[in-house]
Amino acid sequence: MAKIISFISRKGGTGKTTNAINLATTLHDMGHKICLIETDTNYTLNTLRQMELYKLDDKAQNLFEILGSEDNKIADELNKIKSSNKLDYIIVDSAGKTTDEGIKKLAMESSAIIVPTSLTQNDLLVTYQTVTDLTPAREINKNLKIIVLPNRIHSLTGSHTVYDALNNLDAHILQARVPQRTIFVNFSTIKAEKQYADVANKILNEIK
Ligand SMILES: Nc1ncnc2c1ncn2[C@@H]1O[C@H](COP(=O)(O)OP(=O)(O)OP(=O)(O)O)[C@@H](O)[C@H]1O
Ligand SMILES: [Mg+2]
Repeated sequence: MAKIISFISRKGGTGKTTNAINLATTLHDMGHKICLIETDTNYTLNTLRQMELYKLDDKAQNLFEILGSEDNKIADELNKIKSSNKLDYIIVDSAGKTTDEGIKKLAMESSAIIVPTSLTQNDLLVTYQTVTDLTPAREINKNLKIIVLPNRIHSLTGSHTVYDALNNLDAHILQARVPQRTIFVNFSTIKAEKQYADVANKILNEIK
């Protein structure tokens, strides 16, 4: 059965979409069978995919699917997709506007929840709140792994600074970081960014 990796946070702009798409293209590039579901009703990634396909001359590509859903419907839809058996991983980019009940239901379906965060005080507070809000789901879904992903980390920031800032969280802190870099922001839905491979491998390691 497909493993579900959901990107969640209680506030916008923490890096869910940036990391969801980089993880998706990287896992696909590694040969895993994946699909990506976005619950942002602007359907940003679907639109980008269409634009990229329009520009391509060679249409015959091996592409992963990008599906659209909504925060309050995704959990029920996942139930059907995950047992279809042809996928290794389903990546969910949540819009984060969901209710507590919506988050709980999504968490019940997931193998892992990834909470991206920078080290700004605001992001750290939101991350603390997100992890706390996941406690009820975690008590029911005992296999759920909550992974905090250090994102937008300055290249000169030392590891101890990152882990000191995050070590009071009741979650697993990924031993990898996503730097503040435009290569991760100017993403494609088709081509993987090779420098994301370390982060992707470490995420897979956590949910083996
Ligand atoms: N590693 C990074 N390096 C540089 N910029 C980043 C990085 N991660 C995210 N950003 C920037 O931060 C902003 C928010 O990122 P993103 O859209 O991924 O957040 P989000 O959590 O999906 O937001 P929303 O909740 O609104 O969907 C964007 O402008 C994005 O380009
Ligand atoms: Mg987003």
